[in-house]
Amino acid sequence: MSDWKPEWKSEWKSEWAIDSWKSLEAQQQPDWPDRHQLGEICQRLASYPPLVFAGEVRALKRNLAQVSQGHAFLLQGGDCAESFNDFNANTIRDKLRIMLQMAVILTFGISKPVIKVGRIAGQFAKPRSSPVEEQEGCELPSFRGDSINDSEFSAEARRPDPNRLERSYFQSASTLNLLRAFTGGGFADLNQLHTWNQDFVANSPQGQRYAAMATHLGDALRFMSAVGIDSSTTPILSHVDYFTSHEALILEYEQALTRQDSMHGGYYDCSAHMLWIGERTRQTDGAHVEFLRGIRNPIGCKIGPQVSPDELLRLCDCLNPRNEPGRLTLITRFSHTRIASSLPPLVRAVQREGRSVVWSCDPMHGNTFSIGSYKTRDFDHILSELQQFCAIHQAEGTIPGGVHFELTGDNVTECIGGSMDLRAEQLCERYETTCDPRLNAEQSLEMAFLLTEMLHKKQPDKGADAS
Ligand code: TRP
Ligand code: MN
Repeated sequence: MSDWKPEWKSEWKSEWAIDSWKSLEAQQQPDWPDRHQLGEICQRLASYPPLVFAGEVRALKRNLAQVSQGHAFLLQGGDCAESFNDFNANTIRDKLRIMLQMAVILTFGISKPVIKVGRIAGQFAKPRSSPVEEQEGCELPSFRGDSINDSEFSAEARRPDPNRLERSYFQSASTLNLLRAFTGGGFADLNQLHTWNQDFVANSPQGQRYAAMATHLGDALRFMSAVGIDSSTTPILSHVDYFTSHEALILEYEQALTRQDSMHGGYYDCSAHMLWIGERTRQTDGAHVEFLRGIRNPIGCKIGPQVSPDELLRLCDCLNPRNEPGRLTLITRFSHTRIASSLPPLVRAVQREGRSVVWSCDPMHGNTFSIGSYKTRDFDHILSELQQFCAIHQAEGTIPGGVHFELTGDNVTECIGGSMDLRAEQLCERYETTCDPRLNAEQSLEMAFLLTEMLHKKQPDKGADAS
């Protein structure tokens, strides 16, 4: 039985302000050599246009409220870290395309709307296990992502440079601009289903399975068109709401992009639609929780095996004090060996206390290991964590609401296994990630197909018994 009591709430005596996080300890911040320059750049960022609009952020929150009730499913995915070098129209298109393919597989497979959220247009900063890295007796600050420093191992490259925050703002704006053009301009039209299958996957078993599904759907769409439902009468067939998200790590940047909504009051972090707090920065008395509790965006919180049920309830109270549906997504990342013991007590505590959350599974971050100098993940471990996630929620009568993947539309060789049977010896062929290993296009499609099978097993539908 939990000894959690609501009295601790009195700890939150102080009012939230856009900079109230500054009086608390912030983990994982770079050691900026010139704080004056940082201040100037953030002031400039604060004067620039927001990247997203509060109305869109509210729409995502409504969608996630649907997810929390089991009426929709959350698909969140993208790079571990975006990079300044790999920045062009093709990679943006390919990242969108694989998410659209997965979304279509899922929508068709589970007959529910799929809420599409990219780890994109702002995912530049990374928490690190050590603040320094040593190579051949030389110690330098760790690489913290392209919005902070450069991955090259030299003193100059590793010095945190606030100009990079501004550069990541402009790259995010430009990425978002192209995403908006694609998702509104015809690229995401359901009639284009076949064209999203890239050449290098088209002949693989997963590509063929996708093509067969696309043919089926094409028939259905032509039938609908014959009865008068097509993109011209029903724009929803051609247009997709694609939301953006990243880890809210560098609080100066997030504060600079936070704006008071002119229509409804309230603060929105307009750097992305959804922000999440990492496993390493989710201290209830820390700066990250303090900052995020005051903004109105939907918030994610990563949780690993260290979290206790009491601590989790405290987090729910801090981040979602009004228990608003869609506000808080708990993104669990336990590993395939620990989820069976770690998740059920947490699910029960949240359930017992009546907390509204979206449960989402990150099957990537608990399952990282190294083969030689390559960080990798095994498709079977990822799959196993996902399967257990679904089974546990099905057994507890709660909703497996979503998934959180690190993936790419490219033909990379970063995760081993899958039906393509990617071998350890092949990792060197196309290992391109700037941080963690990602599922490639074929592995991502396969994961989406397997996921629909897991979700197809009977799911509780919370709203259904209300009438
Ligand atoms: N707009 C709908 C949706 O987002 C249907 C749709 C259009 C769609 N293009 C899509 C769904 C691409 C998945 C992928 O669900
Ligand atoms: Mn990662």
